Amino acid sequence: MEISQSRVLVTGGGKGIGNFIANGLLQKAARVIIVDQDEQLINDLAEHENLVKYHCDVTDFSAVERLVEQIFEKDGGVNVCINNAGIIHSEPLVNLLSRQEKKHSITNWQRVIDVNLNAVFYVTSNVAEKMILKKQKGLVINISSIAAQGNAGQSAYAASKAAVEALTKTWSKELGMFKIRCACIAPGFFDTPSTQQSLSENMLSKWQKLVPVARLGKMEELLSAVEFIIENEYFNGKVLALDGGLSI
Ligand SMILES: NC(=O)c1ccc[n+]([C@@H]2O[C@H](COP(=O)([O-])OP(=O)(O)OC[C@H]3O[C@@H](n4cnc5c(N)ncnc54)[C@H](O)[C@@H]3O)[C@@H](O)[C@H]2O)c1
Repeated sequence: MEISQSRVLVTGGGKGIGNFIANGLLQKAARVIIVDQDEQLINDLAEHENLVKYHCDVTDFSAVERLVEQIFEKDGGVNVCINNAGIIHSEPLVNLLSRQEKKHSITNWQRVIDVNLNAVFYVTSNVAEKMILKKQKGLVINISSIAAQGNAGQSAYAASKAAVEALTKTWSKELGMFKIRCACIAPGFFDTPSTQQSLSENMLSKWQKLVPVARLGKMEELLSAVEFIIENEYFNGKVLALDGGLSI
């Protein structure tokens, strides 16, 4: 698929990785639809003739259903759907040092699964239905994480991302006959504001030393992975591990 011919939906495109990908694709003449739950972020995004932006919480199934209906009826639809919205959450299964509840919070578990997994299902089921009904070629790109391999202290996050990788494989098998591909990118540690916020300087430098190429990933490298998947129509059902070799 040519990038200049693609119409791309990016969830969580208000900031961070999603925003970087959206802007990179806009520069290559794609039409981009950014969806984010943060209304302020959406309002602050610079206008662009090829950009449409929506405020929507993708964990709300009815809202997603209405949004996708609108995108296909009013905005010409999308042929690439990037499920990027996500929250990074670290919490041990049991914390004996905690003075209150020592077990992992159920509320936190449900929230992470809601955003990182359920929303991917909500968005993709609605988008794929429209693509199939309109008999158009399509692509779904899910953003997972190296944590899908299992990461101590990240039960909910790791489980949500491992499930997203399973969905990627399942959907590629199910949707291939409709000419819809599904692929996944599993980033390691990237130089993003969210990484800086969620890890202490000590932890960051510890992780960097463990990466064979001894540095954090750059957002440009993530964008180039997205571009590769859009353009290479034989890439399907696979997880592209983009982690500097950390998962070897
Ligand atoms: N930053 C990294 O190094 C890294 C590494 C591996 C995987 N990832 C994954 O990449 C994705 C993006 O991460 P990021 O670092 O850019 O995060 P971020 O926090 O900077 O941005 C996430 C965006 O998603 C939006 N969002 C969150 N919940 C939403 C919801 N319910 N509905 C709509 N929008 C919602 C937020 O408002 C925000 O704009 C996530 O899925 C994350 O798990 C990031």
